[in-house]
Amino acid sequence: MGKDTYILGIESSCDETAAAVVRGGEQLLSNVVFSQIATHQPYGGVVPELASREHLRGIVPVVRQALEQAGKSYADIDAIAVTQGPGLAGALLVGVSYAKALAFALRKPLIAVNHLEGHIHAVLLEERQKGNHELRFPVLALVVSGGHTHLYLCAPLKSDAHTHGAETGAAWRYELIGRTRDDAAGEAFDKVAKLLGLGYPGGPVIDRLARHGDAHAVKFGSTQIKAPLREPKNEGKRTAPSREITSHDFSFSGIKTAVLRYVELNAMQPGIEARRLVLAGKTQPTLEEYLAATDKRTLDLIASFQRAVVEDLVAKTLAAVREREVATLFVTGGVAANSELRATFETSGAQEGVPVFFPARALSTDNAGMIAAAAYPKFVAREFAPLNFSPEASLTLR
Ligand code: KG4
Ligand code: ZN
Repeated sequence: MGKDTYILGIESSCDETAAAVVRGGEQLLSNVVFSQIATHQPYGGVVPELASREHLRGIVPVVRQALEQAGKSYADIDAIAVTQGPGLAGALLVGVSYAKALAFALRKPLIAVNHLEGHIHAVLLEERQKGNHELRFPVLALVVSGGHTHLYLCAPLKSDAHTHGAETGAAWRYELIGRTRDDAAGEAFDKVAKLLGLGYPGGPVIDRLARHGDAHAVKFGSTQIKAPLREPKNEGKRTAPSREITSHDFSFSGIKTAVLRYVELNAMQPGIEARRLVLAGKTQPTLEEYLAATDKRTLDLIASFQRAVVEDLVAKTLAAVREREVATLFVTGGVAANSELRATFETSGAQEGVPVFFPARALSTDNAGMIAAAAYPKFVAREFAPLNFSPEASLTLR
């Protein structure tokens, strides 16, 4: 055990088939991602059945490539880690079945990993690769992706492990203190991009176009991004809502509707249809092509939308930082690749006096490096999954 432990990670929860090899829980030797974007693009979103088929097509070559790039053979691998959930049931099943088959044939231990814990470990992997092993608890992790907008308060599993919690093999526990009540932030980016004729996925294109618009041009009121006060849960028994409890919940479906209303009010549909047609003819439009197809009013709308979402994510996260006396902030998941989100968190975090860490962009969106990294503490604890474990589409993290 230790630094020379090699874990093969496999990820297939959504529309990326991925495999990676991580050494000692902290060194990424390979990180192969086979993206299905081109398959789902014509439909403007992920089609679950197509995702499963693409995973089946991709899984064997992706795993082989990950081993090859890491310079490792199957015999060198100490354990096989796979995403158990949450995610699309059929998509998860491909990764889980393949991982089980490998573990059985190679007689290697199998480790089941929660995808959200993977996103959190992407930040740890990033920092450990940079040689940073210092970490102050509690850590607040904002996991912000196409399927999730969750705030987790993280601490070492063992109560006496406060000083050792940052060590690579230490296990953590997670408390969910806020989440989206409706759409995930990434889903809002994707839906708004689709509605504006910009294709799929929406996040990266909105990110690139937003800097060409005026973020103050369209005002989105706080009623469009507001989550109701959370009612405290008491083991199934209903209790009276308490004014003492602050909600750290998010809500992004209102802003999507507000964008739609703005489009209708300003008769923007003909322009959107024209843009959709132009962009549909190109496999990977360049920034110039996007800009040529996008008028000033749309660019302003995009910039204002992104600003509103970013401001809300940052404000609510920092409110939780203050309330829970958080020492370190992690921002991770696909939306953490967003330039404005990163810049705003960096500035606001510095003002607040809380260090903010992000994964590199390649580790922000779905990948298997994060799965192999999150598996390491389980490997140390010999927390192995039986060969008959099942994928869980709604797996929770705790
Ligand atoms: O983590 P991820 O790869 O998959 C899920 O677990 O959902 O996240 C994908 C999401 C998509 O909604 C995509 O539009 C969004 O992350 N995304 C971005 C950016 N890059 C990806 N959102 C905003 N800005 C970006 N640069
Ligand atoms: Zn994800």
